[in-house]
Amino acid sequence: MSPQSGKHRVAVIPGDGIGKEVIPQAVQTIQATGAPVEFTEFDWGADRYLRDGTTVPPDGFAMLGRDYDAIFVGAFGDPRVKTNIHAKEILLGMRFKMDLYANVRPVRLFDAGLCPLKGVEPKDIDFVVLRENTEGVYTDAGGVFKQGTADEIATQEDINTRKGVERIIRYAFEYCQQHTKLDGSPRNKVLMCDKSNAMTHAGGLWQRVFKEVSPEYPKITTQHMYVDALCMQMVRDPRQFDVIVTNNMFGDIITDLAAGLQGGLGMAASGNIHPRRTSMFEPVHGSAPPIAGKNQANPFGAILTAAMMLRYLGMAKEADKIEAAVIEAVRQKKTTVDIGGQLGTKEAAEWVTNALSS
Ligand code: NAI
Ligand code: MG
Repeated sequence: MSPQSGKHRVAVIPGDGIGKEVIPQAVQTIQATGAPVEFTEFDWGADRYLRDGTTVPPDGFAMLGRDYDAIFVGAFGDPRVKTNIHAKEILLGMRFKMDLYANVRPVRLFDAGLCPLKGVEPKDIDFVVLRENTEGVYTDAGGVFKQGTADEIATQEDINTRKGVERIIRYAFEYCQQHTKLDGSPRNKVLMCDKSNAMTHAGGLWQRVFKEVSPEYPKITTQHMYVDALCMQMVRDPRQFDVIVTNNMFGDIITDLAAGLQGGLGMAASGNIHPRRTSMFEPVHGSAPPIAGKNQANPFGAILTAAMMLRYLGMAKEADKIEAAVIEAVRQKKTTVDIGGQLGTKEAAEWVTNALSS
């Protein structure tokens, strides 16, 4: 919090493509709640990279950690930057170098009409996926040998550290203890998802740590599922899930599947969290080049992400208001086309902002 103004300091990085459309709209919804937040915008992204070669300015991550209470991010990815180097350095840089080890993805159904499954009501889908965010197969460890020949060999290492596995599993139990469902009922189950039957070394570590940590939380029921079985269960019966904890890659995959249950990528929010440091919040979707600049992108994923950030910073009342306004917009079909409405990005977001101001 700023000692001068008494406001929460949020760094805003809209990034590329639809990030530049949805993030300013989400900022307006925060302002409409009257929440004590001051915003500073940064131009990190493809345009800046193509202009002067900068991905992250020197001292960029240290500056974010030092001077801000949270970071609000759009998306990175631009067809003009074939290597995607800027996205990698900015986004993975934030996650890895700022050590934001818990990727938190709430999965909630706001309206029965948004779910492709039949007979599923909003009360049936209210779970959260906690994805390890700093290791696994995303560390870029590995290499190629004899590249371009018939004998080429490629390896991609799956890095699992005792510390990394333990802290995300512990985070899952703490999260379960500290959070309720949307209807106010307590959370009480943690499910660990892996593929320990086939990936025995890494899976074995996850299994042992899960068994060691769980007795410290005797009130929480523990469960386990292999990732393939979990994918089937998620579409057969999503009601059974509460808190799911898993590694980086499985978390990436199952959260896209889960986003499909709640109305698609345009509705999904996420946080990249280190409990004692500056954390980063971003909608789950990418920069969506095919619809960028056309006022078509669904702004609700970004707006729900804004609510998640406010809640994390201690502004639960303002977060509740934003979520209620989005639910009402969905109910009244004041939405973009991807979830069945007829409005543009701006118009859908303005409907929410007006609902908050009135
Ligand atoms: P994407 O999420 O950008 O889009 C996939 C498709 O989903 C879009 O073409 C669009 O039809 C739909 N979609 C996504 N968000 C939407 C929204 N808010 N409203 C309506 N429809 C929406 O994923 P894709 O196409 O795989 O990646 C595009 C670029 O974004 C790539 O450069 C990729 O690397 C990057 N990306 C960045 C992410 C990030 O910054 N966190 C995450 C995922 C992809
Ligand atoms: Mg993904």
